[in-house]
Order: sequence, then C-alpha cells, then structure tokens
Amino acid sequence: MNFQQIKDKDSSDRLAHKRDEFHLPSGRIYLNGNSLGPLPRSAKLRAREIVERQWGEDLVASWNTHGWIDLPFTAGEKIAALIGAGPEQVLCCDSISINLFKLLAVCLQLQTGRRVVLSQEDNFPTDLYAAHGLQQLLGENRCELKAVGADQLQQCLTEEVAVLFLTHVNFRSGKLHDMQGLTRQAHEQGILVVWDLAHSAGVLPLELDAWGVDFAVGCGYKFLNGGPGAPAFIYANRKHHDNFEQPLRGWMGHASPFDFDPGWEPAGGIAQFLTGTPSILSLATLDAALDVFDDIALGDVRQKSTELSSLFLALVESRAELQDLVLESPRDAAQRGSQLAFSHPQSYAICRALNAEGVIADFRSPDLLRVGFSPLILTYEDIWRSVEILAKVVGEESYKAGEFNRRLKVT
Ligand SMILES: Cc1ncc(COP(=O)(O)O)c(C=O)c1O
Repeated sequence: MNFQQIKDKDSSDRLAHKRDEFHLPSGRIYLNGNSLGPLPRSAKLRAREIVERQWGEDLVASWNTHGWIDLPFTAGEKIAALIGAGPEQVLCCDSISINLFKLLAVCLQLQTGRRVVLSQEDNFPTDLYAAHGLQQLLGENRCELKAVGADQLQQCLTEEVAVLFLTHVNFRSGKLHDMQGLTRQAHEQGILVVWDLAHSAGVLPLELDAWGVDFAVGCGYKFLNGGPGAPAFIYANRKHHDNFEQPLRGWMGHASPFDFDPGWEPAGGIAQFLTGTPSILSLATLDAALDVFDDIALGDVRQKSTELSSLFLALVESRAELQDLVLESPRDAAQRGSQLAFSHPQSYAICRALNAEGVIADFRSPDLLRVGFSPLILTYEDIWRSVEILAKVVGEESYKAGEFNRRLKVT
C-alpha cells in the first residue's frame, strides 16, 4: 500500500469519528491500548462529576441518588452487549485474578467427582497462579492444575477434567483460540469452560450465549478503556445460576445486605459474585467509557483492527532495517487478536527508544516487542508513521544508548 492509498483508507474509515471522543496527547502514536486503553472524554467528564459533585456535594446519599449501588450491574449490562450475553449475566467487580479464583471454585463445586483444572502453560501467569492457589487451598484430591502446551489441549479434554480455562487471545503472541469449537469439544466430555477475555472484549465480536460458554472474565482497562485498574468483569451463563455458591462471600453478595443478617443468604443470579464495596471512582469511569461503543458495530472494529495489524506487518517486512525483527504472531490476521509481537535480542531497548520517539509500544519478557492496535483511536497514517520511526530507531541504532537499556519496574 503506498502513502496515497493509506490516506484514502483514512478518508473512508467508518470509525474515524471515534478518535475525537478520546483525549489523546499530541505528538504520540499510541500502540498500547492492549495494555491500558486511552482516556475517553466521557470518562474524563464522569470522573470530574463523580469527584466534584457526587462525592463532593451529595456525599453518602449518592449510593441511592446517583445509582452507585447499581453500577456493577449497569456497567455489566453495557459489557454484556459487547460479548454476546443476554441480560443479568455480567457483573463488574474486582480483578480478573480474583474473579477467576471465584469461578474455578464454582466449577469444581458444579463438577463433583472431577478435580483437574486444565489450562495452557503459556497462559497469562495470574490465571495459573489463581488455579495454583486454589489447588493449595483445596488439596490435590479436590483440585489439580494441569497446564499443557497449546497443541496438547484437545487430546487432554478427557472425562477427568472438571474445567478448561483459557485466555482467548494469547497475551504475548496474540494467537486466537477457536472459542466456539473448543467450548463444544469440552462440553462433549462434560467439561465446563471459563474464558479469559482480557485481550478480546471491545475489539472482537463475541457470542458467549450462542456458543454456550459457561463462564468468562475480562479486563476493564484494556480495549474497554475504563482507566488504570478499572474493575474486571465476570460472566456467568444463566444456565448455572441456581446451582452454585461462590466462595468469596461478602455483604455485597448477600440477598439483603442492609438487613445486616449474621446468617449467609446469597443474592440470586449474577449478584452473588459481588464481595465487598465496589470501587465507585473506577467503576464510574469504566461505565462512562463504555458509552463510546454505543453507535458502532464490533464487526467494523474487528475489520479495522486486522487491517491495521496487517498494514503494520507488511510495512515492517518491507524495510531492510527491520529484517532482524522476527514475527511471533500468526501471519494470518484471522488467527490473531488486535496485536503483533516481534522477537529481537534488543527488543527492550528498541521499545524504550521507540517510546522516546513518541511511539508507545511495550516489551514482554524475554524478548518481545509488542504492539497493540486500538481501532477507535488509530489512523492508517499512524501505522505508516510508527513503522517509519521504528525503522529509524533500529536503522540508526539509537536504542543502544544506556538510558534505554535500564529496566523500569513496569515494562
Ligand atoms: C490475559 C490476562 N489475564 C489477566 C490479566 C490481569 O488481570 P488482573 O490484573 O485484572 O487480575 C492480564 C493483564 O494484562 C492479562 O493479559
């Protein structure tokens, strides 16, 4: 694609108007919305409103008058619309790590006689830690984590497995699982399925109800743009609602929290996944950020995402300076999420030098330069300019400067 064709793509981009709905710092190209989504103007306004008016003026009455108490559900319903879930099955609360712990425990409860929790060895570590913690708590005769290579997953779907838990889009490579197919195969063996949608929600069309998914978790702060540390979400298919009790009990998950009853009686349905008091500031900005999705189709978002990543890849591969960057993501755009990863022995320093030039990407240990594509804020020209800058950084070896080789705490 030549530069004129790239400009033409921007002129005919159906999502181009969305960019104005974000606060974007000038002089930067943001290829890291897969880590922390950019700031929607709606979220900025809501944060001000919450702090200055609701908390500042209306104080505790806001739990009722501004609907704070319902926010886990109202934000949950907005996410439900993005993941193909019918009403009353999605709730915003806690983090993925905590929600996954709750769900794995619930799955073991539902699966009497089965104890294996099956996952992928290169799953995001927190997912494996949560399962390991549960194994330690319950003992191996009630819970045994089995983490295998991606290519072994299908042959491990046997009758001893209680639950298969996977991340839909691999956090390093971006490789996509066939959620519908794997869910069906797992169900044929009586296995429950939990999906981690951290890198999928808001950027891939999903049909959780139609695909019969049992449970899912996902991030509020990546492609949903909810802000740093925004609450996660939890999806529980209605078919399971009457059959479990989640173990992290707390007053917010009680049937009537303001009766202050010392006896435990879980709220019905999805509500019992609540534990303690919701983080209203974070939850409110997430809720406002979700309004960005009101007037767009995720099919368009997905199409632009694959075009942006394919353009980035083609431009990288056309530059002699970048021949040492090795693609670690699927070449076929249909097989990956909204990111690309390239290995290079100096990828950390390259990433830091790139960031210093205004192109924000990230590094994933041991040697990956990771670039994410947020279709709501990026132009096709951004992609062209970012590869130009990457070629300059690598070609001129500016990344060799000492300052770019010192590891920061967060990479
Ligand atoms: C796939 C995946 N799961 C989980 C997490 C972390 O979840 P949390 O911090 O909400 O517990 C991340 C963070 O990047 C992730 O990429």
